Amino acid sequence: MSKITDYNDISQSYDSVREPADACILKSLMESLTGKCVKDMDIIDIGCGTGNFSEYFLRFEPRNLALMDASEGMLSKAKEKLQSVPPSTNLSFKHAVLPNMPYEDNSFDAAMMNLVLHHLEQDPDGKSFPKIVQTFKEVLRILKPGGVLTIISVTPEQLEANWFAHLVPKNKERWHKRLLSHDQLKNCLSEAGLTLKSAYNTLTASYHPDHSNPEGPLSEAWRRSISFWGTCTEDEIKDMVQNVTRMKNEGTLQEYVDTHEKLGIYGALHISASKKEVQ
Ligand SMILES: C[S@@+](CC[C@H](N)C(=O)[O-])C[C@H]1O[C@@H](n2cnc3c(N)ncnc32)[C@H](O)[C@@H]1O
Repeated sequence: MSKITDYNDISQSYDSVREPADACILKSLMESLTGKCVKDMDIIDIGCGTGNFSEYFLRFEPRNLALMDASEGMLSKAKEKLQSVPPSTNLSFKHAVLPNMPYEDNSFDAAMMNLVLHHLEQDPDGKSFPKIVQTFKEVLRILKPGGVLTIISVTPEQLEANWFAHLVPKNKERWHKRLLSHDQLKNCLSEAGLTLKSAYNTLTASYHPDHSNPEGPLSEAWRRSISFWGTCTEDEIKDMVQNVTRMKNEGTLQEYVDTHEKLGIYGALHISASKKEVQ
């Protein structure tokens, strides 16, 4: 269960602000690292949300597609959305809270975790990530030998590259402790027994289509669609709204966005793929 975002509430509006960015890259990674086509795979979508990534994979008719999430609201939206299922696919949904994964050992060829890691609690110093390691150990258990885990996450550098993060410097520091760097992610995977095979920063797609809207931070609905805002205090939000309103009135708001936006350099997302080695 996320402590920073109320996903039961957000499930109603999630699909208007999120896209399954780079889903085709996940498919390529899964196929090249397992040597199988999706249609011959058993796949799990961990922290599936409203099923946007699963919807993409369903087109390729996987043998099994399992969706799991801690939010009943998100799961019920996913069920509504994924009504049209190819006859060759067995589709299933499960409510479960990570690190628990109520699935048999050696069940899946591929697992994906898209934008979920930052919801798992860690030590406040930001140096150790026990829940994440526990979760990866569970992934190792449910993957078949030779199976693949793909992860979409955001690195601290990519957080810095989001123009709006600079509006609340204290909150930005909180997120530096919450987000894993590439090396920290690699260490957590290795501690759990998974081998990192490839990692990319994607420059092309933003997962949030309205991300560059200069007046976005003034809207509560816009803020609720980005987890960053869930850890701000009320006073921080009040100060930020005053600042953004001032810049808007002075005509300097767009310049602020242009100065701080660096997604074109650091990319919006980090994509990695790791493998459960065949013993
Ligand atoms: C940002 S959303 C991503 C949803 C989906 N993967 C996507 O990219 O569209 C994060 C999801 O992780 C789920 N989540 C957060 N903490 C969780 C936990 N401890 N166990 C299972 N799911 C969790 C939330 O309920 C939410 O649906």
